[in-house]
Amino acid sequence: MNENLYSKITDALVDDGYIILENALPKELTQKLSDYAKQSSNYTNAGISSSKNLHIDTSKRSDKTLWIDEDGSVCSEYLAFCEGLRNYLNHALYLGLTYYEAHFARYEEGDFYEKHLDAFKGNKNRVVTTVLYLNEEWREENGGELLIYDEANKEIQKVVPNAGTLVVFLSDKFPHEVLPAKGKRHSIAGWFRVDRR
Ligand code: OGA
Ligand code: MN
Repeated sequence: MNENLYSKITDALVDDGYIILENALPKELTQKLSDYAKQSSNYTNAGISSSKNLHIDTSKRSDKTLWIDEDGSVCSEYLAFCEGLRNYLNHALYLGLTYYEAHFARYEEGDFYEKHLDAFKGNKNRVVTTVLYLNEEWREENGGELLIYDEANKEIQKVVPNAGTLVVFLSDKFPHEVLPAKGKRHSIAGWFRVDRR
């Protein structure tokens, strides 16, 4: 059922290195994830990983996150979708992706995430990034867009965080940032990795 979607993502990663898909998942699934994101209260300050340890640096990002664990029942359908994509990418492109990690992120009024890369070249752990947005009726004045840059730091895409929009890109090729949000903004950011847990 997801084969067409997986192959579309795979082709785009090969051709362009990224893809932006609106209404990527069944509406009911996006809705369930959105409800879960909104009702959860155990978000914590997001960390920025440095070479050795994880420290909290709120000057670079001010959102809060909630890691998804294996047995989170509402999330299992989404994790199954991602597991299918992991297998597809491995078969099609021999990427050797070992696992997928993901967290919900909550941005409140004024929260942002400065321009960054999810992986650094030569430091292979995160290889493919996914971001799924969970905001119904997001209005333009709510800001919070994802800006994507190319390797020459030229802005190439501005993504409105509408419910159901899925962004997939190569983690070490595209600097990106989240503009300050003016309302509560929910997403699930995830990474396919090549190391061991
Ligand atoms: C991240 C990230 C983007 C977003 O968590 O690394 O870039 O739009 N998130 O939530
Ligand atoms: Mn990122």
